[in-house]
Amino acid sequence: MATEHKGPLERLEAMKDQARKGGGEQRIEAQHAKGKLTARERIALLLDEGSFEELGMLVTHRSNLFGLDKQQFLGDGVVTGFGTVHGRLVYVFSQDFTVLGGSLAEAHAEKICRIMDLALDNGAPVIGLNDSGGARIQEGVVSLGGYADIFYRNVQASGVVPQISAILGPCAGGAVYSPALTDFILMTEGTSYMFVTGPNVVKTVTHEEVTAEELGGARTHASKSGVAHLTAPNEVAAIDRIKELLDYLPQNCEEVPASKPYVAGDESRPALNSIIPDSAQQPYDMRDVVKELVDGGTFLEVQPDFAANIVVGFARLGGRSIGIVANQPAVLAGVLDIGASKKAARFVRTCDAFNVPLLVLEDVPGFLPGTDQEWNGIITNGAKLLYAFSEATVPRITIITRKAYGGAYDVMNSKHIGADLNFAWPTAEIAVMGAKGAAEIIFRKEIASASDPAAMLAEREAEYAELFAHPYRAAARGYVDEVIVPANTRKRLMRGFAMLENKAVRRPRRKHGNLPL
Ligand code: HXC
Repeated sequence: MATEHKGPLERLEAMKDQARKGGGEQRIEAQHAKGKLTARERIALLLDEGSFEELGMLVTHRSNLFGLDKQQFLGDGVVTGFGTVHGRLVYVFSQDFTVLGGSLAEAHAEKICRIMDLALDNGAPVIGLNDSGGARIQEGVVSLGGYADIFYRNVQASGVVPQISAILGPCAGGAVYSPALTDFILMTEGTSYMFVTGPNVVKTVTHEEVTAEELGGARTHASKSGVAHLTAPNEVAAIDRIKELLDYLPQNCEEVPASKPYVAGDESRPALNSIIPDSAQQPYDMRDVVKELVDGGTFLEVQPDFAANIVVGFARLGGRSIGIVANQPAVLAGVLDIGASKKAARFVRTCDAFNVPLLVLEDVPGFLPGTDQEWNGIITNGAKLLYAFSEATVPRITIITRKAYGGAYDVMNSKHIGADLNFAWPTAEIAVMGAKGAAEIIFRKEIASASDPAAMLAEREAEYAELFAHPYRAAARGYVDEVIVPANTRKRLMRGFAMLENKAVRRPRRKHGNLPL
């Protein structure tokens, strides 16, 4: 700690200088050599210039064990405070790996808890920039207590203010559970990893040889586990992504996301009239439909590499922030499986918590059959999506572009489970199952005894398709509000969401529902 000073102001300046240096020049160099920025450099990138108000800069730990009395750093390894992003208030904590490896103990945790408390009381997002060796080993159990104090606040803040976690270095052991309790996890490629137990423990316990990157790097969590919602090639891109994400979210659950100014123009999109292939078996990329529908260049896809048979993300429509959930016929024919159900359910709940209206684009052949799916709980996991849609009170519009078969028709934001508007394109097929499968079951005996079974199947299939492979039976029942010309979809959606702007739904009082976890 600085001891030589001329007067009170100089003393303060000297201490602040010291705090700003973190773990010192050498460790800052080492941090840079790893391709990582320091805690303060990250905050400077995130917040509007000059807006950062630091809190707790002079906090230190209170331990004298294992030589910690000789290793006191002002700030205790985490920079905390508030500032603005594009003029909006946010709270931020940024772990400083140059100070005791960014490790967390009593004082460090107290600083994080303090800004979380302020965020909750004042209704503004919390952004955590994580880069830490985990629990500070020298401080023992107070480190564990500190983590638990944070976890508890993560849960209290859940659904009240947006919480975004960037993983910009190590994040191991129980430390992973704070980010896991937040709304979004973003990881940098090559410089971050998350795991409950590291490669050495894995080797001892399961005899698997795996690198930290393979076990818990950004690629792994973006594609295999689905733990990471977003990734970025470097920290500058990561922080840009956080700002982009914030843009679609409100400050808290009492507000709606801010709209961007929008000047209406020609909203027809003729390309949509021919986007569905002639054959129902042929795939197309649902992201092409999304691109046509949303305001130019505004789609921020979430978890793009996990369960790619469903596409989720934020976009703007006529300036409004919306969340999109879309079956993806280009991957596994857009089937709903465990991964897709969990991914979409989580996204639907995130949007609903923060008043982001939902647009659902539906082309789904049903749920994926098989022992793998059944034994791993497609029943419970598929129910998550059904539950998430059924409880959502935000404006909800569905467009059925092609297949809406079986239980998946009900699940994918049907009117029966609370969608406000349901439109179908003329190419929609809304039925219990596809014509071929249906004909094989209903006419099984007839086909088997026919002199030409294949011809008989084709005939019965055509008959079933004529009766059911279209949207008009559903439209006759009012399950579909309108069958629309695809080119007019954008205009219809803009008017629909405008009409639903003041939607208010009251639910019966209860402690909380029992989501099938
Ligand atoms: C105290 C720590 C620390 C920790 C790192 N340091 N982790 N100090 N407690 N947990 C210190 C190092 O001693 C070193 O100090 C400095 O930080 C930088 O660390 P390096 O090892 O030089 O950096 P690097 O090679 O990049 O390796 C980073 C690392 C490694 C992989 C994170 O430091 C590591 O394995 N640390 C221990 C991780 C760990 O076991 N944490 C506890 C997990 S259990 P000097 O002075 O040499 O620069 C946990 C439980 C949480 O977190 C439970 C919550 C419920």
